[in-house]
Amino acid sequence: MPQSKFTLDTCNVITLPKISDPRGNLTFIEGNNHIPFDIKRVYYLYDVPGGAERGGHAHKDLYQLIIAMSGSFDVLLDDGYHKKRVHLSRSYNGLYVCPMIWRELDNFSSGSVCMVLASNCYDENDYYRDYDEYLAARGVTK
Ligand code: TYD
Repeated sequence: MPQSKFTLDTCNVITLPKISDPRGNLTFIEGNNHIPFDIKRVYYLYDVPGGAERGGHAHKDLYQLIIAMSGSFDVLLDDGYHKKRVHLSRSYNGLYVCPMIWRELDNFSSGSVCMVLASNCYDENDYYRDYDEYLAARGVTK
């Protein structure tokens, strides 16, 4: 078991507020209210070609919320001990991902858009891009 509070159990799909309206639905997200961190950065993936995979890394300190703004895709989460696959397809759902979780994104539908809210600005030093290095940092002995 991971000796850390950052486990797969911490990573859940959050149901965001949804204002249903015949003119079109509306969802909103307030940092430190609907999600447990301040939003410092927003980025999004789009024009993802069929069969492409994104992610393939973990973050040391970053908290994120991943949303399928359009279309759908899968997020494979891995805490070094267990893995789980989450399918995102609703723009009122967000997958909360805490630090020290390896993630891979695949199975993007045509025209899908993946938006990510992040607790910090971009910092390459915050990444584990090597899976073995990540496992070592997790204390996983192979
Ligand atoms: P990366 O985080 O590896 O993308 P993904 O996990 O979605 O596959 O980032 C891809 C490239 O974009 C990498 O060179 C870093 C750069 N980048 C930024 O400059 N700023 C950002 O906010 C992000 C997320 C990435």
